[in-house]
Amino acid sequence: MYDIFTDDFETFINSWWPYILSICISIIYAIRFYVGGVDCVSRNRIDDKIIIITGSTSGIGLETAKDLISRGGHVILAVRNIDKANKIFEGIKKKNEKFKISVIQLDISDFFSIQSFAKRIIEEYEKIDVLINNAAVIFQPFQKTAEGNELTLVTNYLGPFLLTHLLLPLLNKSTNGRIINVSAVAHFTGKLKLDNLNMEKNFNEKDAFAQSKLALTIFTRYLASLLSKTKITCNSVCPGLVRGTGHLRNIFLNGNKWSKIYLWPWIWLFLKTPKQGSQNIVYLAVEPSLSDITGCYFSDCEIKNPAENVKDVKLAQALYSRSCSIVNINGKKLIDSLICPEKSNNNHDLGDGDNDF
Ligand SMILES: NC(=O)c1ccc[n+]([C@@H]2O[C@H](COP(=O)([O-])OP(=O)(O)OC[C@H]3O[C@@H](n4cnc5c(N)ncnc54)[C@H](OP(=O)(O)O)[C@@H]3O)[C@@H](O)[C@H]2O)c1
Ligand SMILES: *[C@@H]1O[C@H](CO)[C@@H](O)[C@H](O)[C@H]1NC(C)=O
Ligand SMILES: *[C@@H]1O[C@H](CO)[C@@H](O)[C@H](O)[C@H]1NC(C)=O
Repeated sequence: MYDIFTDDFETFINSWWPYILSICISIIYAIRFYVGGVDCVSRNRIDDKIIIITGSTSGIGLETAKDLISRGGHVILAVRNIDKANKIFEGIKKKNEKFKISVIQLDISDFFSIQSFAKRIIEEYEKIDVLINNAAVIFQPFQKTAEGNELTLVTNYLGPFLLTHLLLPLLNKSTNGRIINVSAVAHFTGKLKLDNLNMEKNFNEKDAFAQSKLALTIFTRYLASLLSKTKITCNSVCPGLVRGTGHLRNIFLNGNKWSKIYLWPWIWLFLKTPKQGSQNIVYLAVEPSLSDITGCYFSDCEIKNPAENVKDVKLAQALYSRSCSIVNINGKKLIDSLICPEKSNNNHDLGDGDNDF
């Protein structure tokens, strides 16, 4: 008698199909493994560390927060939407009552909100060990913030610029303060238009995103040199291309409905999960051997070369003074006062010029 199952099965087994199928599966597996990047190898706990993460209500920031919380760190979630954050983190808190989590309001696109956030942190905390500038927006139409600057530039660069400076005194109190700026591969295509940072003319959403990330990456390097006399380190990191985040949703909103359907398999195949995207940030936050590494650009837990113009010191200086004047701080003075507290405390100038460095 003809048995459909065993006969067909035998022909199948004796054909090329099993080989073809297993090759396909191996290829898919290899691609997923390759794009997954590198996991943070450090199992280090950080029980006595206080960490601020901006934009921790979704995507990479949320995964980074979960990881650092589970390592015992006191994680301060700096979020613009308190209700959303409370909902997310109530669940996490219930899992273990030893978890240390604080939710504090911060809109990084609003200088006033940044000032009051920093004030509150300075009042409530003795030190900050790690600041992770993660919050960012992508592909926003042209719009200006209350202070009159373009939204993407403020959210991704000027806001973190101000916040970082205001928190420097607390970061200096840590035995090894670390600043981590989340950049993006897009910075490679960025062009810095110093005389037109807001892109008033010819605004383009993609260029605005790339410029903001380039500015951030230039800064990481420049600030590292300014802080070389302190124990504070600054590094930037590119998480890679990550799916399941607000960023990706926004890129999609720009495309049409069909693009979602036919792009999905490729996105699943070629993009990292948010957890994989968080690993390099976690690594920079917890790995003890990185305590002296500063001014670097990381990707997949390794130091990589950033875009060429990131190394342009003149450009960095110009950007620095331009940024200081926009956010209305005296960055150099602030940093000087970390290095020689006595000198800036008494007002008479000792006439030593700048040979103190
Ligand atoms: N996804 C990628 O492929 C990719 C690639 C390269 C770099 N990155 C970078 O990775 C970081 C995290 O991005 P993601 O992919 O996880 O995107 P995301 O899901 O869009 O996360 C962005 C976070 O920033 C917050 N945020 C936005 N504007 C804010 C504001 N004005 N004040 C306070 N918080 C604000 C958002 O808060 P709400 O929840 O309130 O919106 C959200 O929590 C970003 O710096 C991004 O540029 C991502
Ligand atoms: C992070 O970027 C901000 C600008 O947005 C800059 O002021 C700060 O110096 C940077 N920090 C590090 C560690 O690069
Ligand atoms: C900053 O840290 C350095 C080194 O730890 C210390 O000598 C200096 O006094 C600190 N500055 C301030 C303002 O506390």
